Amino acid sequence: QTPKGTCLESVKIAIDTGYRHIDGAFVYFNEHEVGQAIREKIAEGKIKREDIFYCGKLWNTCHPPELVRPTLEKTLKILQLDYVDLYIIELPMAFKPGDAIYPKDENGKFIYHETDLCATWEAMEACKDAGLAKSIGVSNFNRRQLEMILNKPGLKYKPVSNQVECHPYFTQPKLLEFCRQHDIVIVGYSPLGTSRDESWVNVSSPPLLNDPVLNAIGKKYNKTAAQVALRFSIQRGVVVIPKSFNPQRIRENFQIFDFSLTEKEMKEIEALNKNVRYVELLM
Ligand code: A2P
Repeated sequence: QTPKGTCLESVKIAIDTGYRHIDGAFVYFNEHEVGQAIREKIAEGKIKREDIFYCGKLWNTCHPPELVRPTLEKTLKILQLDYVDLYIIELPMAFKPGDAIYPKDENGKFIYHETDLCATWEAMEACKDAGLAKSIGVSNFNRRQLEMILNKPGLKYKPVSNQVECHPYFTQPKLLEFCRQHDIVIVGYSPLGTSRDESWVNVSSPPLLNDPVLNAIGKKYNKTAAQVALRFSIQRGVVVIPKSFNPQRIRENFQIFDFSLTEKEMKEIEALNKNVRYVELLM
């Protein structure tokens, strides 16, 4: 999705800046560059493998239980790493297994596949037992889908995290509370309001970073709206995974640990919630 080498360079800059959590996926088609960046930084002596927290994702075409471990093994081979720190089910619905990442019928409709999420979860548990993933979690799961796993008879490991869209315009108060009660960490994707790529983003919701409240609060601390948005999320216990391929913005997004928002400012930002997703995942 990015010009060749951009991801490699960006991950190396990120590691030099201090980032340690890297959010990846097979379907981003850049895991080879991420793995290379990590391995180069280890070889340089800048980091050790255990300093890095790499999250990989199980794609929709690989939900049948017998495909889970081979799929993770493929990711590890691409990364040239022995394990991932976190492996998550990327979406709660399955597509027809096969080479097509987005399998469609002759009418252009997605071909879904009936699978049992609980059986997929058991295969994820086996990956953890085999040492291929240190922890396992989910993504884009709602409360009902989380409960299905949590209430599964014989559950061995709970999901440690649920990666969902989360930012000041989509604050997820109910899901956040539910996950808190169950010790499930919310990892917020699109914490800056996405790249506004119309092929997958609902652009009728206004750009987050133009928000007057975020900008006014930023002015007070000599920070940008982006830094305020990220600080807001981490201050409410939401892990953020901002994306940037620009060295200056990669560094900017890390400069959020030298200020804090007051309770009043947190409330003001919480009140910006529009309950509208940028990432509708219409499939
Ligand atoms: P770029 O790669 O040119 O920096 P999200 O993390 O919500 O998905 O947002 C990603 C988008 O936000 C990308 O288009 C990225 O573009 C842009 N972006 C990342 N960091 C910043 C920042 N600090 N200020 C403004 N835009 C940013």
